[in-house]
Amino acid sequence: MSDLGLMTDWEQRYQLGDTPWEKGMAAPPLQEVLAKSADWGAGPILVPGCGLGHDVRALATLGVPIVGLDLSQTAVERAQEFPQVSNEVYEVGNFLDPAWRAVRKFSALWEHTCFCAIDPSERDRYAEAVADCLIDGGLLAGVFFLTPFDPGEDASGPPFATTVEELETRFAPWFERIDAWVPTHAYPGRESREWIGLFRKLPMLEIARMEQNIGTDH
Ligand SMILES: C[S@@+](CC[C@H](N)C(=O)[O-])C[C@H]1O[C@@H](n2cnc3c(N)ncnc32)[C@H](O)[C@@H]1O
Repeated sequence: MSDLGLMTDWEQRYQLGDTPWEKGMAAPPLQEVLAKSADWGAGPILVPGCGLGHDVRALATLGVPIVGLDLSQTAVERAQEFPQVSNEVYEVGNFLDPAWRAVRKFSALWEHTCFCAIDPSERDRYAEAVADCLIDGGLLAGVFFLTPFDPGEDASGPPFATTVEELETRFAPWFERIDAWVPTHAYPGRESREWIGLFRKLPMLEIARMEQNIGTDH
């Protein structure tokens, strides 16, 4: 695997049109999250792995700056062809690269099919990247694809499966869970296979205290 944790040539997949995840509309569960009136903060809101940006444009209705990020230049160029909704922009970049996020902070992050696209060996880096780019009190809102495979299907990814327990454990060092539910709206075929989690980033002081307790707790 390369140093940037990339096993899949996403750019090539967009160029070949091999994009079965592309549904031509925002993730239906995002409407449920927006309806909850969670506190997204003043922005900007980051959407890593945004693809053609349907979720970016749905979030743009909040009226705060939104940044869609994707590895694929072709995906970003196609996202930019859609009519502007409000204050949204798209960038080419690697979310796992600390250099990309070194000078950026976001008030919230929307996760949808980026976590499941990344090799499971990179999930610690993903969780660290989420924590790193959010302000204290920032919102991590995501719909996580738990079981991407049909029975009998080859279980090699991407997408890669996960569990609620894994998600809670991965984000626990930096976040408290504030809400969670199984969405009632889904793309056809994804019904009951996704899980929405809303997490609030703990203040840095509290995180440092927790780390200290773990260090002395033996
Ligand atoms: C399964 S696709 C989902 C795209 C979009 N979220 C959607 O549902 O249409 C995964 C996307 O994540 C992007 N991606 C994968 N790893 C990434 C990374 N490390 N940083 C930024 N984007 C990444 C890919 O280029 C691809 O567009």
